Amino acid sequence: MKLNPKIAVIGLGYVGLPVLFGFSTAHQVIGYDINKKLISNLKKNKIDLKKYCIFHKIKKQNIKFTYNIKDISLCNIFIVTVPTPINNRKIPDLNILKKVANQISKFLKKDDIIIIESTVYPGVTEEIFSKILEKNTKFKLNYDFFCGYSPERINPGDKKHTFLKINKIVAGSNKITTNKIHKLYSSVLKSKVIKVRDIKTAEAAKVIENTQRDINIGFINELSKIFSSLNIDTNEVLKAASTKWNFINFKPGLVGGHCIGIDPYYLAYKAKKSKIFPKMITAGRLTNESMSKFVSNRINFYYDKLINKKPKKILICGISFKANTDDIRNSKIFDVIDYLYKFNFKISVYDPLVKHHSIKKNKKFNFVKKPRKKFYNCIFIAVAHKQFKNTSFDEYMQLAHNKFIILDINNIFAKKYKNYYQII
Ligand SMILES: NC(=O)c1ccc[n+]([C@@H]2O[C@H](COP(=O)([O-])OP(=O)(O)OC[C@H]3O[C@@H](n4cnc5c(N)ncnc54)[C@H](O)[C@@H]3O)[C@@H](O)[C@H]2O)c1
Repeated sequence: MKLNPKIAVIGLGYVGLPVLFGFSTAHQVIGYDINKKLISNLKKNKIDLKKYCIFHKIKKQNIKFTYNIKDISLCNIFIVTVPTPINNRKIPDLNILKKVANQISKFLKKDDIIIIESTVYPGVTEEIFSKILEKNTKFKLNYDFFCGYSPERINPGDKKHTFLKINKIVAGSNKITTNKIHKLYSSVLKSKVIKVRDIKTAEAAKVIENTQRDINIGFINELSKIFSSLNIDTNEVLKAASTKWNFINFKPGLVGGHCIGIDPYYLAYKAKKSKIFPKMITAGRLTNESMSKFVSNRINFYYDKLINKKPKKILICGISFKANTDDIRNSKIFDVIDYLYKFNFKISVYDPLVKHHSIKKNKKFNFVKKPRKKFYNCIFIAVAHKQFKNTSFDEYMQLAHNKFIILDINNIFAKKYKNYYQII
């Protein structure tokens, strides 16, 4: 490896920014993103680094931000952290990744290394991304340029598992490249950097980490449906079962976001391409996707049974896809809102972490800056933000108008209060 590799990080979101700032602790880095406003805010220090779980000392002199692709053309290491979503048929959408391959093709040089960190299915780095580079440049993988894959395990909102502290898997398109990538990541990470045998193994490892969680949560969600119909408290069952030494703890809930709710579709797609129908993966996905409707039905059921008052005024606490993040991408709370709207609820949503401008004005709900006192008949604690956990039962009660219930899917109160129901 050249002594001073010039590193470009492509795509500066929840993954790319921590990666960029992480590498800046020891290297010159250029952060490239197509979002001009983001780049301008980064240049003006107008970005809340804590939001991206960046807590280490920043070496600003090592970082350059740009939305001009030409600025990264002289780099020799490209770390790709762009989105890999699914389309509305739940099929992997690799268009952004392909676009990046086409862009890099324009300035790909001898010995350049491209490392993908975006989540993909096994085969994407070598069979799709590298093939585009080969086709566009006439360069050959492992002769003229090299590739690698290092899956990202960043968990937005998680202050403990930050980029510099997470054990990281690395793989290169050949042994020498694996060693180079290992050395590169080891130069900044304080955690273990683990070489795996090839890129496909690394790609597969990432996608199964989230698929495993999805299937496990799916199983617990199925249990929650069964126990609800049997009038058994799922959380009490889980508490009891977890006293066994090898019982694995998972909780029921809504599975949204850009990882657990998406990655299994990547693996399922590749499985089907290889003529394997992925029954478990599909079942986990179907069960988890069904939870928004299930939760909404439960809310409506409790409301009609215990309140039965019109208008049905509900306050939903939390709209991000999970606790302690402002990330609303693929948040299942939006689906719950759709169902509740059909049940004629008058919906207010409060989320202290989510910026007002990120929620589009709409007819289904009112995104409030502060909940109204003595106003709601039903409070639904949708997301277990710290702020909601630290709110006392009495404080929630101050928002209630006469007859009211507090419904929860996160079990935030261990104590059994009257009017408080854990609904899954
Ligand atoms: N968010 C997570 O928790 C997480 C964790 C592990 C892995 N991942 C994976 O990492 C990848 C990135 O996810 P993310 O959450 O950081 O996404 P993100 O949406 O937060 O950020 C992606 C960034 O890429 C930029 N971008 C889009 N197209 C581009 C292009 N052609 N060139 C340059 N920049 C472009 C966007 O403007 C955006 O700033 C995905 O594959 C995701 O599955 C995400």
